[in-house]
Amino acid sequence: MTGTSQSTIARLEDLVGRMTLAEKVGQLNLLQPHRFTDLEEKIRNGQVGGVFGVLNPADIERYQRVARHESRLGIPLLVGNDVIHGYRTVFPIPLAEACTWDPGLLEQAAQVAAREAAANGTDWIFAPMVDICREPRWGRVAEGAGEDPYLGSVIAAARVRGFQSIEGIAACPKHYVAYGAVEAGRDYNSVDVSERALRDVYLPPFKAAFDAGAETVMSSFNDIAGVAATINHFTLRTILREEWGWPGVVVSDYTAIAELIEHGVAADLRDAARLSLLAGVDMDMQSEAYDRHLVALVSEGAVPLDLVDEAVRRVLRLKFQLGLFERERLDQGRAESALLTEEAREVALRVAHESLVLLKNDGDALPLTPNARVALVGELADSRKDMLGCWSHTGRAEDAETILDGLSARLGSRLEYVASEVTAAVAAARTADAVVSVVGETADLSGEAHCRAHLGLPGQQAALLEALAETGKPLVVVLATGRPLAIPRVVEQATALVLAWHPGIRAGRAVADVLFGDVNPSGRLAITFPRTEGQIPIYYAHKSTGRPAEGQGTLQFDVPFRSTYLDEPNAPLFPFGFGLSYTRFAYSDLEIESPITDRVVACANVRNVGGRAATEVAQLYVRDLVASITRPVRELKAFERITLQPGESRQVRFDVPVASLGFTGLDMRYQVEPGEFRLWIGSDSASGLEGSFRI
Ligand code: NOJ
Repeated sequence: MTGTSQSTIARLEDLVGRMTLAEKVGQLNLLQPHRFTDLEEKIRNGQVGGVFGVLNPADIERYQRVARHESRLGIPLLVGNDVIHGYRTVFPIPLAEACTWDPGLLEQAAQVAAREAAANGTDWIFAPMVDICREPRWGRVAEGAGEDPYLGSVIAAARVRGFQSIEGIAACPKHYVAYGAVEAGRDYNSVDVSERALRDVYLPPFKAAFDAGAETVMSSFNDIAGVAATINHFTLRTILREEWGWPGVVVSDYTAIAELIEHGVAADLRDAARLSLLAGVDMDMQSEAYDRHLVALVSEGAVPLDLVDEAVRRVLRLKFQLGLFERERLDQGRAESALLTEEAREVALRVAHESLVLLKNDGDALPLTPNARVALVGELADSRKDMLGCWSHTGRAEDAETILDGLSARLGSRLEYVASEVTAAVAAARTADAVVSVVGETADLSGEAHCRAHLGLPGQQAALLEALAETGKPLVVVLATGRPLAIPRVVEQATALVLAWHPGIRAGRAVADVLFGDVNPSGRLAITFPRTEGQIPIYYAHKSTGRPAEGQGTLQFDVPFRSTYLDEPNAPLFPFGFGLSYTRFAYSDLEIESPITDRVVACANVRNVGGRAATEVAQLYVRDLVASITRPVRELKAFERITLQPGESRQVRFDVPVASLGFTGLDMRYQVEPGEFRLWIGSDSASGLEGSFRI
């Protein structure tokens, strides 16, 4: 967030001084036009501070013209949009992007998205979604960066920097806070996490986003331990304003103020408006609660005018900072030509390449040889719109390359495609050298309000795979999905398994490049894959418990008196951080420098022991062995992508601040406790060289 200059403060104060109470309230009103027939009238009356969900530049221009030239004070509108994984150039879904573990690249991707959005009239991006999520049933797991607060924080900051590197764009991290912890994985459901979990798991990515300069934040739909996020003084005032001193704009989520009535914490819309403004929600998205009731609430003394003034100042300061008052007319020619440039398509391809995760590769079934005869099976292989993923309104299906396109370009007549008919698929498989089966979820099975209780393959896909597996041909499964799936049987059947997620417009090329080995896969899971829905929530940074599953507890409890299931192992299908490549990496020579002062410096040697150049994501984890609070069995504290030629080895050197090894203590303050720590450097959260150190 940039500081406010003296001249801006003077202009702001002059403007606020000339505003009526109704005009002030108008600045706090954020509306989605399609719901209103009288929107222009409202803008003209000074009743609207911003619009959102308007994608047509001509409409934006029209609304702005009314605001600038026909309203009494001529205050421009904020124009918000959900630019979740690209604007017209659609990138892989954010969960896939997180699997790149490449913040620099994600910063670039966010910049591309913001450039396209800005040229088309958007000045406020409702992203990044930074909700930590350990709940794959929740459809919105697709929109975030996965389960880990550290990786999530690094990515949140990168995305904010990327968006806001474009002049005139404000980012809006969301959803504040703990929305990713909805009970039972059902969207909009209750959240009941402890203050410690809030501080140690759910808040860090927001803090990172603010430290990176995020100008705004969106509060969440859920309640948190009984207090709705929209009226939560603790999160919105105590933490955000008092502890963090963050000066930006808080916007509610869509009709979240009105939803306080259904939550059962506001008697009516008036009450909801009062509670929300008092708690520190500056802008009301779509509830019209402020518009209808705030003037009366202030006049009656139920809401102090000072609080309204504070909110208005925040909104207007943002408008000044974004340069909205100076902005020229939207250049329609520029708007169109800014979209889908060759450079943007290249970035989308790189992100897609890096987000693909190779989960299995028995007998080096992959890469495919260039002259192979391939049977390609599965409806998803020929679906443009499903490659786009769950939140890509501004994307177009026709821009997307399908996996069929990608493989046809390579194989020509050596490729036979069968969408879903089992007999034909089996016949094609029998005459082929290898089968590539694209299975998983269509894009409309994830995203907001698209939760699933069953995380298997939908429809007849499992039966299709059974039949293909029976042919005995090498079975390469490409998994297109918006969430982790619980598919142990598929993993058994597959000779090789490539997790493609919903990879965006460059799907076809990216998948083909990986299948044929032109790109060596380097993606690593940003979220755990469960074996079954019954293991959820499942995440690597769990606690030990007094009776750990591995039986290493000091008391050596007999089975089954341990924290286990009778009918399923605790281990996930694939752990956080996991991902293979077409080479192998060997780790050796772990060293932890001593004495440790304010940094833990740890090194290890990584050697590419395979025959191809490849990129490894070296990961460093720690465990605080004895503390006043139970600590996770592992926590990611650093990572680095390194590219190694065949036979090449290099030392990775991590430099971890001791200050980052703490937690929220008994007194609810962040602290680092002296004592012994274990440390691992390796390829994922379930392996690695092990050492220890004391601080
Ligand atoms: C509701 C969603 O929760 C939020 O993420 C989005 O930004 C708003 N709708 C606006 O579209």
